[in-house]
This record gives sequence, structure tokens and C-alpha cells, in this order.
Amino acid sequence: MSDDLDRAIVGSTPRAISRRVFIKGVIAGGVGVSAAGYLFRATNLFAQSAATGERLITINVNGVNRHADVMKQETLAWTLRHKLGLTGTKLGCDRAECGSCTVLIDGVPRYACSVLTHSTRDRKILTIEGLENPDGTLHPMQQGVVDEQGFQCAFCMPGFIMSAVGFLKSNPNPTRAELAQGVSGNLCRCQDYDKILTALMRGAEYMRNANHA
Ligand code: FES
Ligand code: FES
Repeated sequence: MSDDLDRAIVGSTPRAISRRVFIKGVIAGGVGVSAAGYLFRATNLFAQSAATGERLITINVNGVNRHADVMKQETLAWTLRHKLGLTGTKLGCDRAECGSCTVLIDGVPRYACSVLTHSTRDRKILTIEGLENPDGTLHPMQQGVVDEQGFQCAFCMPGFIMSAVGFLKSNPNPTRAELAQGVSGNLCRCQDYDKILTALMRGAEYMRNANHA
């Protein structure tokens, strides 16, 4: 290669930095970059493992401490259904409009699609699967719904039941209108609200008879 080309490569001081030195420098720089890449990956892996540690949480569901790998942005409905296999909690709108995903958190009905799982770490979560009595018999509200056959496709049923059970804690002997108001955050696509209310009223009656809170 000519001196002119040497100059073009290394600038105006060909005598101070030869092409050979320049190429050595590039190779050394490449090694440096590779090493930096390795270090970066190692640091990244460390960060990922720290993040994974933060994602491993314990939540109390139906009286049992459950461990799960939960992303920061993950909703409780997603965790219940896809990480813990509790598919009784339904996902309808996934945006706090239909109530299909209703669960009780510390006894209060909440839309599980709109609650971040990480925010429930010190709370007690109750889903439809945890509603039955310890001996396996149905909760009085579930029994009332079975006896009245109040739902058509029943997709919305778990949400209605959880809302009703939560509402009845504060008003155990409601009028039909009061119970309708109490579960008004739940929608039914089959739209047989009259039958649903009859079933929920039957469940409320069974709960009172059983002194069930
Ligand atoms: S799925 Fe949560 S409110 Fe509709
Ligand atoms: S019974 Fe079908 S959505 Fe309610």
C-alpha cells in the first residue's frame, strides 16, 4: 500500500502511526469490545437474575400461600388463571367493565383484571374455587345458584357469586333492589338478570340460615 493510502487510512501522521500499528489497534479494540460485550452480558444476566428474584412472590389464595413468578405489570386475573391454574376466575373485557373476574381481596369484591398481582402480597385473596366449605360442600350462595339454575351459559357466574358474597358481608338481608345494586358491577351477556337475582337472593337466604358470613 502506498504512503498516500497509508495517510488516507491513518490520517496525516503516517510516520507516527503505521498501517500495521493501526490494524493492531483495531484488533486490540475488537478484543476490548468483545470483552466489554462479555462483561455486559454477565452484568445483564446478573440484573436478569435479580429481576427474577424480585418476580418470585408469595400470595395467599384461598388460605394457601402460593409461589409464582410474576411480572411487575401482571394482573391478578392473569396470575390466577395462567400461573396458578385457577380458571374459575373468568376474563371477559380485561378492562374493569364486566365483572367476570371478580374475586374478594381481604373480603372486598375487586376486579382481578385491574389489580396488579404484586400489590396483593400481604392480602388474602378468595376465588370461586376457595368458596366451598372445608368439608367440600358448596357454599350456601353456590347452593342457591344451583337450586335456582339462575344462569344460562354461566360464564359470568363466578363473578356474580363473588360479588354477591362480598356485598352480603355488609348487608346480609338485602331487598331484591339492594342486591341488584350490590352486584351492579357485573354484566351478563345472556342478560337473564331476573333469574340471576332470584338465584342470588336464594343464596343470601341460605347464607342467613347457615349464619354464614
Ligand atoms: S374481565 Fe375484569 S372486569 Fe371484565
Ligand atoms: S349467563 Fe351467560 S354471560 Fe351470564
